[in-house]
Amino acid sequence: VTINLRPWYQTYRWISAGEIFFGVNCIEEQLSKKIKHFQAKQILIITDKGVRNAGLLDKVLKLLEAIDVNLEVFDDVEPEPSLETAEKLKEIVRKGKFDLIIGIGGGSVLDISKLTALMATNPGDVKDYIGMYLIKNKGLPKILIPTTAGTGSEVSEAIVLKGALPGTKAVIYSEYAPGDVVFLDPVMTVTLPPKLTAATGMDALSHAIESYMSIDSTPFSEAFSEKAIQLIASNLRKAVYQGENLIARYNMLLASTLATMAWTQSSVCQGHAIGLAIGTQYGLPHGVSVSLALPYVMLFNLPAIPERIARIAELMGEEVKGMSPKEAGIKAIKAVINLQKDIDLPTTLLEIPNARREDIPALVDGAYKAQRLLKHSPRLTTKEDLEKIISLMFKGLDI
Ligand SMILES: [Fe+2]
Repeated sequence: VTINLRPWYQTYRWISAGEIFFGVNCIEEQLSKKIKHFQAKQILIITDKGVRNAGLLDKVLKLLEAIDVNLEVFDDVEPEPSLETAEKLKEIVRKGKFDLIIGIGGGSVLDISKLTALMATNPGDVKDYIGMYLIKNKGLPKILIPTTAGTGSEVSEAIVLKGALPGTKAVIYSEYAPGDVVFLDPVMTVTLPPKLTAATGMDALSHAIESYMSIDSTPFSEAFSEKAIQLIASNLRKAVYQGENLIARYNMLLASTLATMAWTQSSVCQGHAIGLAIGTQYGLPHGVSVSLALPYVMLFNLPAIPERIARIAELMGEEVKGMSPKEAGIKAIKAVINLQKDIDLPTTLLEIPNARREDIPALVDGAYKAQRLLKHSPRLTTKEDLEKIISLMFKGLDI
């Protein structure tokens, strides 16, 4: 029997971005100063069409007009970046003699910006580095500017690409991946449409709650998770329905970064394992699929960690006075479902047009393969358990 020592008793590790600026208009105040600090002359800006069309690229370019630098813009990052796009950018960055990368966008753009900075200084192909910590050299300096409040890619070691085979993902972890400088400017997120705000916001809530449930949560991650859960519960509705509400955007951006600072220590657990399987099978956005799994996973974990799930109810502003931890835990699950309904996200697989019960075995297999996530669950999760959880997702919760 091996004794699994959990973080309270063992050394734990935490990594984040090098320097983080957070605040309204922090880009205007600090971006050009930082570029001068890096003494950059040749900059590669990586973004996508959505960011360009929203005017956010122009906003940054205008700020850079005053400095003497050569800029090249790559705006062709697709929603789920492929290995081909990653290879294309590798060629561009190696040819162009760049000395700084700036990524402006959501999780996909930031992930590929992180990878491009690394591929500039590491030989070979992107596929040589798929896996955990295979990258040897520190990459080019990179400045990351998120335009969504959800993935927290700017502070994480993870880079997620579409795998070579259909329905698979290629994940690269590197201690050199987090941003050297990160600008969290809520102004950059106000143009994000309601649907994307809802999905990315629920991704952030999943990060916070799954990290909080993780058997590997630490005193650091718990503090970040708690704050993130509170902020999301009281700001996501406003961010979705009042896009220009800068206070709601500010709090969501803060929450999203805190939630990723939490899960990068503790990991996420079953919600992301099941969510990734569902998302891959039905081509759903990441936030929509992990959100779908969240309440079902909370219910499954409730007998193992009732006090902890009860605390989530409190953090979400629910009245739990006089209730048993289990009763309060049910309130937490209901609070998550109410939030999903309010922001018009699905709460069952019945609402996903191409989802079929016949897919259950494939979904179970997909989720079960994600042992790297499942092993952090607070309750042992077998294949049979996954089948029960996913079957329930085809019915809905009756609580
Ligand atoms: Fe996520």
